[in-house]
Amino acid sequence: MMWQVQVAKNTLKTFLPFQNRLRQLKRGMFGRSDGILESNVYSGGFDQIELLRENGADVRGRTVLEVGCGWYPVIPLMLALAGARRVIMTDVDRLMDMDGLRAAADFLRARKDDLARRLELPPEEITRFLDLAPDGTFEAELASRGMAYIVPFDYDRASRDIDIIFSHTVFEHIPREILEDVVGDGCKVLKPGGIMSHGIDHSDHRSHRDPSLNKIDFLRFSAPVWKMLCLNPHDYTNRLRHSHYVDLFQRHGLEIVQERTFQGESCVSFAQTRSLAPPFDSLPVDDVAKVWSHILARTEPG
Ligand SMILES: C[S@@+](CC[C@H](N)C(=O)[O-])C[C@H]1O[C@@H](n2cnc3c(N)ncnc32)[C@H](O)[C@@H]1O
Repeated sequence: MMWQVQVAKNTLKTFLPFQNRLRQLKRGMFGRSDGILESNVYSGGFDQIELLRENGADVRGRTVLEVGCGWYPVIPLMLALAGARRVIMTDVDRLMDMDGLRAAADFLRARKDDLARRLELPPEEITRFLDLAPDGTFEAELASRGMAYIVPFDYDRASRDIDIIFSHTVFEHIPREILEDVVGDGCKVLKPGGIMSHGIDHSDHRSHRDPSLNKIDFLRFSAPVWKMLCLNPHDYTNRLRHSHYVDLFQRHGLEIVQERTFQGESCVSFAQTRSLAPPFDSLPVDDVAKVWSHILARTEPG
């Protein structure tokens, strides 16, 4: 019964026009409770910095492109602080603005001592970097930090000068057929030997709001039912598993450099004891039960 109620709610939401505008209004009315604090971006930023460093792709001096940067440039600011020469942010929709930049800078300023210790920088340097000019424009504040927000990003006309492309909790929101283009477009602008670094949340996102749900509960639903449950595009997740992403990168000629995965507590027993829908019922339990992957993949050296 619960899922029928959800389908009805989602159907209604789908007919509401101007979702972005509504979200902006909601943000204005209720503050940023839908934003940074609920998220794991801070640890996600360090995962990016550290995993890249461990694999010979330290962000220092590099040009980095973030796909699907969302509302708050927390990770991009972290990478700029960690020494990236240029950080370009892009997305499908224009979601970020000066309020988002300020919120991200405030969020990081509150963690300046930890940032200073982990990035081996003086705390004053961090504060100076995060202090935005009171009358600065969004574009100018980004530019003075070596950053840019480019939406849409023209992959066909951009030069092939990107060292690293990364994303954080983005790929799971993209339909499988569009992911092919996202990875293919990335390959067009990455330098030879360039790196893709993608953190992907394979869990049922409904379990973020309802901890009583198993983290792979959504694998019980057939494809048409899941489609109905996801009629609101912002709730959509493709349910692809870790192995699907490994295949995706390899199909585009990328070499997998590192896979860091995390299996959800009780997900193995859930997968073994509950009836999962196709195609998940025929995948190895070990693959189905993974709820997080961070995959690093490299283009062919020139
Ligand atoms: C959950 S948010 C993550 C935002 C940000 N990366 C973070 O970690 O806070 C998912 C993001 O994926 C973006 N997105 C969805 N489909 C996309 C696509 N086809 N290409 C690029 N980004 C996409 C959304 O616009 C949104 O910014």
